[in-house]
Amino acid sequence: MGSVPGAFATEVFMAADSNPSLQMRKQESSQEPSPCLRDDIASFSSQGYTNFILHVPGSFTEPAGLQWAEKGLSMKLLAKFNLILLVLFGAGGLIIFQLANRFLINNARREVMQEAELMMASARSVRDYTADDLKALLERNPQHKTKFLPETVPAFAAINTFNRIRQKYPDYSYREASLNPTNPEDHATDWEADVIAYLRDHSGQREVSGERETPTGPAIYLAAPIQADQTCMECHSRPAAAPAAMINSYGSDRGFGWKTGSIVAAQIVSVPLALPLRVAKQASELLLVYLVIALLAAIAALDAGVYFIVIRPLRLVSDAADRASKGESAPAPLPVKGNDEIAAMTASFNRMQVSLAKAMKLLG
Ligand code: HEC
Repeated sequence: MGSVPGAFATEVFMAADSNPSLQMRKQESSQEPSPCLRDDIASFSSQGYTNFILHVPGSFTEPAGLQWAEKGLSMKLLAKFNLILLVLFGAGGLIIFQLANRFLINNARREVMQEAELMMASARSVRDYTADDLKALLERNPQHKTKFLPETVPAFAAINTFNRIRQKYPDYSYREASLNPTNPEDHATDWEADVIAYLRDHSGQREVSGERETPTGPAIYLAAPIQADQTCMECHSRPAAAPAAMINSYGSDRGFGWKTGSIVAAQIVSVPLALPLRVAKQASELLLVYLVIALLAAIAALDAGVYFIVIRPLRLVSDAADRASKGESAPAPLPVKGNDEIAAMTASFNRMQVSLAKAMKLLG
């Protein structure tokens, strides 16, 4: 019945007709509803005409709470909408940030690890080149008989090549650490001794890596075992077997007694991690800033959409309803754009305005 234009007016007319006190009240100019009007309201409410009764022109002023609720409509709707968006986007943004942060830090570690592997590979090349090519050539040098040329030693070549690199990159290091070294400078420090012990206990393992704190910040180390073979015995078994020139230079109390097949030392590469970690941290901070900007921009765009698509047309209807309830005569019908739910509601409101006007005409 409600969907047929005019049916509502007829019904209202019938209801008003059966309640003579309503017609009487129409003439009244009093702002306060009289006790008998309250009875009307009660009886009409029970018949489902509450809205009509509350908005009969001149009956009484609207409750302050109602005006407030209508004014606050857009704020409330947007506030709720924004709250939901903030919670959703906030949680989503936080997850993205955490994942990206972890990815960037892991990536920094992976890159540093690659650098360490590259350093290890080049140290091995220097060792091999010295052992395979240079050693034989240098040993032919007559000087080598009287004065030991440490350049013939693979460890010496690898360590010295890297010492040159360290002039430019002081935080990088390459060591051939031993618990019983020929050169005291190669004596293993506490943590290096632990690494050697670990490699000795896990003899099948070709490499071991880890992270540790250094005075210049965190660093990643990569260590590989050095195993003695028969060729090493000339200089590392007994002082008597070693070239005299070498004993002259290094003495006879260090770097001897090594056993064939045993792990005697470790190549240890150390690459600083502080800078790549700082870069990763800066990148994730920048990402956070961009993420917040993007999310706020998305919220602003969605807010604008909600405002223009829902809130503004809703407010037009609510303002028109407001004016009608205050007795402003026959406002023009609201424009109906599109065929969405808002348009349907506006059209329904226009129809209701017409029905209401007809009803008022019949009453008046
Ligand atoms: C001709 C003698 C000679 C031979 C052969 C030799 N070394 Fe050495 N080695 C030395 C000398 C001398 C040093 C000290 C170099 C320096 O001043 O850095 C040294 C140093 C080292 C170091 C660095 C730690 C330390 O003792 O100072 C390692 C590790 C090492 N040698 C392993 C080996 C292995 C493994 C072999 C066999 C594959 C081998 N060496 C063969 C003479 C030799």
